[in-house]
Amino acid sequence: MEKLIITGKTPLKGEVTISGAKNAAVAIIPATLLINGTCTIENLPNISDVKLYCDILKELGAKITWHSEHEVTINTTNINAHNIPLDTTRKFRASYYLLGALLGRCKYAQVGSPGGCNLGARPIDQHIKSFEALGASVDVSNGNITATAKKLKGTSIYMDVVSVGATINAMLASVLAEGTTVIDNAAKEPHIVDVANFLNTMGADIRGAGTDIIKVNGVKELKGNATYSVVPDQIEAGTFMIAAIASKGDIIVKNCITKHLESIIAKIIEVGGNVDANGDHLRVWYDKKTHKATIKTLPYPGFPTDLQPQMGVLLSISEGTSIINESIWDSRFQYTAELNKMGAHITSQGKTAVFEGVKNLTAAPVYATDLRAGAALIIAGIIANGKTEIYHLNHIDRGYENIEEKFRKLGAKIERVEE
Ligand code: UD1
Repeated sequence: MEKLIITGKTPLKGEVTISGAKNAAVAIIPATLLINGTCTIENLPNISDVKLYCDILKELGAKITWHSEHEVTINTTNINAHNIPLDTTRKFRASYYLLGALLGRCKYAQVGSPGGCNLGARPIDQHIKSFEALGASVDVSNGNITATAKKLKGTSIYMDVVSVGATINAMLASVLAEGTTVIDNAAKEPHIVDVANFLNTMGADIRGAGTDIIKVNGVKELKGNATYSVVPDQIEAGTFMIAAIASKGDIIVKNCITKHLESIIAKIIEVGGNVDANGDHLRVWYDKKTHKATIKTLPYPGFPTDLQPQMGVLLSISEGTSIINESIWDSRFQYTAELNKMGAHITSQGKTAVFEGVKNLTAAPVYATDLRAGAALIIAGIIANGKTEIYHLNHIDRGYENIEEKFRKLGAKIERVEE
């Protein structure tokens, strides 16, 4: 088993370049299943979820040609399978996109239930409702979801909850449907826009992505024959920005889209940090004690749940009593028990956690309970007194490219060792 050993109390200094967005990449790769031809995707993050997705497509008959660890050409002309077993799909959440993409292309998909981080109940009723509205029959049994349709017909879909996955799946299933589909109360995250832009580049007709009403005018075929570059990862950018302030550092975050980071910039400034945006670069620096804040996680453009644990680390060492209300996931405070092992004073009940700011964190052996919790513990290790050991790195590797290398370049004393 691998673990990270971090010797703490290092202010981060220098520059970090942000990779392509994980949550866009893991939607764009299955979206290639809708293309009858070839496309090239650039700026892919080099993470295990991306590798896994490309392997799944290969199993389905796609030809995968890697040009570098960030660029791949996918030829989906000869897709000859529509079944993906539970053993594969439960390895990650984004396997649910296979349903929308295969249903859209082949009118049939049998896909095992999705896995992913344990953040509490993760229903997919809005995905199923969207497929059914388009004319599919959906059966959920024995751990599999099977969707079948004679034909898919454009329709109106009202999402009862704002869901990233259901919005993208509704787009995937409707791109090749007959007529127009209107998705109302759609999610607006940057990766929704990125998937729509990708599909439009390949020949789709999707309008309004990034607003809460998306209109998909069905087309007969996606020819592909184009190259698309994945948007920068706003969660990775936010992770380094928070780490800079928590470690009392001064860093430049390169290759980011400032617009996507507005809620994070606002909170960093609110607690006393500094941010200066300059084109696709951000300078983020500490010059005075940070203090309490109240945060409620919300769908974009609200404060992202995927940065809640990282922000929790900063609040745990900020003066005063902070409160985080997690409105998206039921079990996203598991990391607080790990932080408490490091001397934090956090109490959580249900969807609310109260952070009594402490002066210092101290090193302890801790476990990454999920992907973003893992990133939060790395930040905690960087700011703590002593040597922190972090276990269960597989969660972190699913979603962050070369995370310890990037932190090391910023001066963190961090190494990965085999136990
Ligand atoms: C995606 C992200 C995840 C992020 C989350 C919220 C990917 C691969 N994962 O997850 O990192 O934390 O968005 O930004 O992109 N819901 C339902 N029924 C549904 C679908 C969702 O009730 O059919 C609820 C969920 O329980 C949750 C909320 O809607 O409370 C948002 O979930 P959703 O946006 O769908 O999250 P994911 O797509 O799973």
